[in-house]
Amino acid sequence: RMSTVEMEDRVRGIKQRLGRSLFIPGHHYQREEVIQFADVTGDSLQLAKLSGSNRDARHIVFCGVHFMAETADILTSNDQTVLLPDMRAGCSMADMADIHQTERAWEKLQNIFGDTILPLTYVNSTANIKAFVGRNGGATVTSSNAKKMLQWAFTQKERILFLPDQHLGRNTAFDLGIPLEQMAVWDPHRDELIYDGDIQEIKVLLWKGHCSVHENFTVANIEAVRAEYPNMKILVHPECRREVVELSDYNGSTSYIINMLEKAATGSEWAIGTESNLVKRLRQAHQDKKIISLNPNMCPCLTMNRIDLPHLLWSLESIEADNIVNPIRVEAEIAADAVLALERMLQRA
Ligand code: 13P
Ligand code: SF4
Repeated sequence: RMSTVEMEDRVRGIKQRLGRSLFIPGHHYQREEVIQFADVTGDSLQLAKLSGSNRDARHIVFCGVHFMAETADILTSNDQTVLLPDMRAGCSMADMADIHQTERAWEKLQNIFGDTILPLTYVNSTANIKAFVGRNGGATVTSSNAKKMLQWAFTQKERILFLPDQHLGRNTAFDLGIPLEQMAVWDPHRDELIYDGDIQEIKVLLWKGHCSVHENFTVANIEAVRAEYPNMKILVHPECRREVVELSDYNGSTSYIINMLEKAATGSEWAIGTESNLVKRLRQAHQDKKIISLNPNMCPCLTMNRIDLPHLLWSLESIEADNIVNPIRVEAEIAADAVLALERMLQRA
C-alpha cells in the first residue's frame, strides 16, 4: 500500500503536469485530504457556475457528489469530460425523487389544480428530474438562491411543486410569508397529498424528501446548547427541519455559514448545524472563536466522504493513462431539457 505522503506527491505531480487542462472543484463538505488539492471550493451554486464557465479544462475531476458532476457535465461543452472519483458518491436526497414517481405526481396534481403549477427542483436532484422541470417551464434552485427563485416562480404560476427537499421548500416558502396551512406534502410512496384545510388555498406542494444528514439536527440539540451556552449563536443549513430553523439564530447555504463565521467577532460562540467536514474546517480556521457541532455526535455525509485521497489519485492517474474511469455523461436528450432549468436559475441568481 502506498503511503499518504506518496499519494499526495503523485497528486501534486499530476496537477503540475496537466496544468490548466485539469480542473478540480471541491464542495465544502469534502474531506480535508481532498479539499487541499481543489482548484476552487464552493457551495453548489458557485461550483456549478465555475465549472460551467471553465473553457480551458479538458478534464474536470469533481470532488463532490453525483448530481453535482452531472450538472457540471450539462453545463460544459462536449469536448470536456467530467469525472467522479467514486461512483458511490451519490446523494440520498436526490434519490428520493425518481422520474416515474414525478411524472405520476405531476399528472395527479394537474388533475386537482389544473395548469396552475410550476415545478422547481433543488439542484440536489438527478439530471432526469432537472430535465422534467426544464420541460415544464420550471427552474433549479440552490440553498443560496431559493428565495429569489421561489419569488420568480410565483410570477409565472399560482402554485409551486418543489422537489425533492421538503425542508428547503418549506423554510423558503415560510420566509416569503406563506403560512404552513398553504403548504401540502406530496408522498411519492402513497401517491397522495397530505394537507390541512382548504385544498384550493394551497400554494406550495412539497415533495416528501429530505437530507439524512441535516435531519439529525433536532430541537433537543438546540435546547441542550441554549441551556449550556447562553451566549452561543446557532447557525444551521436550511435543509434542517422547520422547527430547527425556527429556533436557530441564522440559516443559510454552506458559503453563507462560512461568511458568517468570517465576519464573527473574536471570542464569539457558535453551534453549527451542517455536515461535519465543514464544521471541522471552520473550527480549524477560527481558533479564536468557540465552534461546536449542533449535534455533539457530528454528522458526516457518508457519500461526500466516499471521495478520499486514494480515489482522487486513481481518477487523476486514469487521465494520464488516457483510460479514464468514472466519466459522467448525461444523455444528450436529458441534458438539453435539464439545461433549460439550470439556465433559468443562472440568469437570475
Ligand atoms: P450548498 O453547498 O449549496 O449549501 O448545499 C449543501 C448540500 O447539501 C450539498 O449537497
Ligand atoms: Fe445529499 Fe445531504 Fe449529503 Fe448534501 S449532505 S450530498 S443533501 S445526503
